[in-house]
Amino acid sequence: MSKTIVIGSDHGGYNLKSVIIKALADWGYAVEDQGPDCLDSCDYPLYAAKVCNRLKEDGDTLGVLICGTGQGMVMTANRMGIRAALCTNEFHARMGREHNDARCLCLGERVTGQGLALSILKVFLETEFEGDRHQRRIDLIDTVSQ
Ligand code: RB5
Repeated sequence: MSKTIVIGSDHGGYNLKSVIIKALADWGYAVEDQGPDCLDSCDYPLYAAKVCNRLKEDGDTLGVLICGTGQGMVMTANRMGIRAALCTNEFHARMGREHNDARCLCLGERVTGQGLALSILKVFLETEFEGDRHQRRIDLIDTVSQ
């Protein structure tokens, strides 16, 4: 996986996004921030789309999307064809990577505290997809969705 992380939020996720950007830099990742760049009220699908479009361009890159609950972000990303996992604990994050090959971590700033969010993020970034039967199952997501 690339050491570049593409990230975006809405106003509800802006503060946690700032914390995560700093942590990613400390951990040696390059960060592509797709916005917003201030706390003004904005619409989460627009920022989810920016991140997802970048992930579609570069299949080796992971993304992070944050809104108030994480719900709007995970709905938009999955609808756009990017496997995204809304995680509230490290087990969600590990399984989301190992079994579901999630490419985008979704977090809710109003749900998950900063310390836990960073711990979830670290697990998400450091866990590899297991492939094998899980590849068949994620392929089936596309098959049954057509
Ligand atoms: C914004 O108030 C809020 O609706 C948004 O951040 C997110 O939680 C939507 O899913």
